[in-house]
Amino acid sequence: MCGIVAYLGPKQAYPILIKGLQRLEYRGYDSAGVALLNGGLEIHKSKGKVSKLEEYVKDKNLSGTIGIAHTRWATHGEPNQTNAHPHFSQTKSLAIIHNGIIENYSTIKEELISRGYRFDSDTDTEVLINLIEDIQINEKVLLDEAVRIALNQVVGAYAIVVLSVHHPNTLIVARKGSPLVIGIGKDEYFVASDATPIIEYTKNVIYLEDEQVAVLSRNEELKLRSIKNKVITPYIQELEWNLNELEKGGYDHFMLKEIYEQPRSIKDSMRGRLNAHKGIISLGGIRDYEQKMSQAKRIIIIACGTSWHAGLVGEYLFEDLARIPVEVEYASEFRYRNPIIDENDVVLAISQSGETADTLAAIEMAKQKGATILGICNVVGSSIPRASHAGSYTHAGPEIGVASTKAFTAQVTILTLMALRMAQIKGSIPKSKFMQLLNELEHLPEKVEETLEDDGIIMEIAKKYQNASNFLYLGRGYNFPVALEGALKLKEISYIHAEGYPAAEMKHGPIALIDENMPVVIIATKKGIYEKVISNIQEVKAREGKVIAIVTEHDTTVKNIADYVIEIPETEEMLVPILATIPLQKLAYYIAILRGCDVDQPRNLAKSVTVE
Ligand code: G6P
Repeated sequence: MCGIVAYLGPKQAYPILIKGLQRLEYRGYDSAGVALLNGGLEIHKSKGKVSKLEEYVKDKNLSGTIGIAHTRWATHGEPNQTNAHPHFSQTKSLAIIHNGIIENYSTIKEELISRGYRFDSDTDTEVLINLIEDIQINEKVLLDEAVRIALNQVVGAYAIVVLSVHHPNTLIVARKGSPLVIGIGKDEYFVASDATPIIEYTKNVIYLEDEQVAVLSRNEELKLRSIKNKVITPYIQELEWNLNELEKGGYDHFMLKEIYEQPRSIKDSMRGRLNAHKGIISLGGIRDYEQKMSQAKRIIIIACGTSWHAGLVGEYLFEDLARIPVEVEYASEFRYRNPIIDENDVVLAISQSGETADTLAAIEMAKQKGATILGICNVVGSSIPRASHAGSYTHAGPEIGVASTKAFTAQVTILTLMALRMAQIKGSIPKSKFMQLLNELEHLPEKVEETLEDDGIIMEIAKKYQNASNFLYLGRGYNFPVALEGALKLKEISYIHAEGYPAAEMKHGPIALIDENMPVVIIATKKGIYEKVISNIQEVKAREGKVIAIVTEHDTTVKNIADYVIEIPETEEMLVPILATIPLQKLAYYIAILRGCDVDQPRNLAKSVTVE
């Protein structure tokens, strides 16, 4: 999704802005641009990658100590140079960058056109900057006031930075629904969609809240107001992540690095929360809500994408261990279907980024209906944790690859801890079983390490099936969400069509697709309904499908039937999803590499989906 970077201070702005855009590339985008103020206001932009923009500006004057820059992910108007940001106002005295969608832009546009405004682009953003200019001129107000008045008229989401030729020492920054962070250095300000472009310069940041407008001026304190003009005292926080955590660390891709980080990220998610020896699970963030959760009429899990798959594993965990009914909902569906929800419900919102627009909106709706909201998020200080009553951070570290890997296993780890804690409070499983699960969980990072060891067979499978046009992924019980996640990983990064299905449900449709060209990945680990899965494997083989099975180490039964087997260490049934997902992440990765795909930034996808 769109990325915002801005700078104001004593240094040259352009190098800081470009580096910032590169750090935000992982969010996914289709064009990029920069505006610099040095006497005149210059805008340079181009379609495609940030490197294209760098190429394009080579012979331009790039001096200036104040500037704004943007990577655009198209919503209104195709990805091209004209629609790229920044956008000028009509008089060319204002420039804006924007992340989000102005929903009522066409009404405002018509009104402005009737007053003589002309528009170059198809964007909602150009409408907003002209609205600001129109207010400034007609109501004869200062720029920050014009911004506030304009934002009171727009419906939708925005994170914006405005630059004016008449105010060469000031940036106006505002947000609603789309994230924005302000970094405070020595006599300088940085602005960005997240902390990654800022962290190498300062760790002191302010996360803007919805409907806040900040005025950043050279050699002056930051001024913060609500769009209703209420003065607000800024809250400065210290960032936790460091720059090393944001770089590739010797791996070819962020995705591979993040896959290999899983033993550590899972451990970090449990750190200080699990004492298996003493039988203690301590989730400080939700302590005040544990009783409420254990007594909930039901838990509603809301999420999107990979996080929704983690939620499905959560459903099995909470029902199986804690005997609490669970519904798992796509946030985008939930928010629009007038769901029945009240103060007895606990809503668990899962999100890596903590910024997904649909999840955020679903939270707000559930909150209004009186539900308790608990968040499971990775990015500290992001919007979802702030909108939740309480929650647990996953502590997986920054995830840069667009396709989620370590965030998923960290989410499942937290869900396991939560479900076990609920089981402990409710006494819904015998103490001996509880202790056994805690012990197994504590040793899980070592088993994840083992799972990551052998690449040979996965590489061989990747080579064999790299040109397949369809893949089917099957699993049952706890492994059904794993099948969905495996299929999603493959389609996201290799562009091969892949479907995940409950293994038994295959008979009701996908079986029609099976022939000798169809690779079928089946999670067939011991325990659970192993024998039933073996029958499903037989059904695939009977139709000449090619079976790639994820099995428990030393399994011989499946080995005799399947075309390929990938072994994972033995563990408790409810912990299998964490281990079984890992070879599927790698399989998707190697296939995508062999097909020459851009695994870290797959086409059309965005890391942080801040529009609905
Ligand atoms: C995008 C990303 C996915 C992610 C989903 C939900 O589609 O590409 O990897 O699973 O958003 O994001 P969240 O940050 O809420 O987990």
